[in-house]
Amino acid sequence: MPERVLKILSQSSGYTSGGRISSELGLTRAAVWKKISHLRKIGFKIEAVPHKGYRLLETPDLSEEELQSLCEGWHVVCLKKTGSTNDIAMAMAVKGIPDRGLLVIAEEQSCGKGRLGRTWASPPAGNIYMSVALRPEIYSKDSTLLTILSAVATAKVLRTHTGVDIGIKWPNDIVFDGKKLGGILLELRSDPDKISLAVIGIGLNINSKLKDLPKDLRHTATTLQAITHKEHKLTPLVAGIIKEIEACLSDLKKNGRGHLLNKWRALSHTLGKEVLARVGDKTLRGWAEDIDTEGRLLLRTANGALTAIASGDLTMLR
Ligand code: BTN
Repeated sequence: MPERVLKILSQSSGYTSGGRISSELGLTRAAVWKKISHLRKIGFKIEAVPHKGYRLLETPDLSEEELQSLCEGWHVVCLKKTGSTNDIAMAMAVKGIPDRGLLVIAEEQSCGKGRLGRTWASPPAGNIYMSVALRPEIYSKDSTLLTILSAVATAKVLRTHTGVDIGIKWPNDIVFDGKKLGGILLELRSDPDKISLAVIGIGLNINSKLKDLPKDLRHTATTLQAITHKEHKLTPLVAGIIKEIEACLSDLKKNGRGHLLNKWRALSHTLGKEVLARVGDKTLRGWAEDIDTEGRLLLRTANGALTAIASGDLTMLR
């Protein structure tokens, strides 16, 4: 597997001899050379110096090999273009999820799906369109926890990477300064009481320029490039999100939902604000007071009543 060679090269800042790689991996020198040639063909720049060895100079963004080497135990599928990564991940995962999980990621989607039946604009502009398929040990009635967990993991990785105040708008929009940077679409298959398969679809505007966003979104959406004024490599972000989702899942198992809900509260850009909540064909106005143990938004309306909202769409009023 070329990703094992890649892992060795990426762990060293200097040269690694062909002999060391072949003995570490139990391969002949010719086999190592073949894998190096393959990596070069798919965009890795690898220097080869006689008597010194190989040195990794540059990695292409979004390579299956690199993601595979960073996400140990995961099955990674990188596509140039697809309809929707969620559909591909679901179709693959129903046949069985290998090891720890399945990651499907594409450079472009022709039918990107958003929440509430909307479409998700997915041009080939250096953005993230990824779907993670897993079998979490979570009851179907607690599926909102998975939504909350995915948003917490994604926001945490983006904050750590950029150092800016990226947060969450209930339930799982990733936002900065009131503008949407990304969204999460959770699709589930359930047994009578347990989630048998979860596909977490994450769409993040990373390297798109503001002017490249669809016109109707320019006032309400943003991109990481517009926030930080620089381009970002996608691979470390994607691998970081996978690791953080796994960490949050094991934290949920160990410490219970209270811990997760507190993490969500700390990242929330919704609590304490006045909002309009569209729930089906109804609209409610009130103050977003908290989330309950099921992840529902608790809205305090003008008459003083507290209403729990399980799913819907929010507009921030101030
Ligand atoms: C939202 O409406 O806020 C959710 C958007 C989710 C978009 C992502 S992009 C990757 C995955 N594939 C899809 O078709 N949708 C999700």
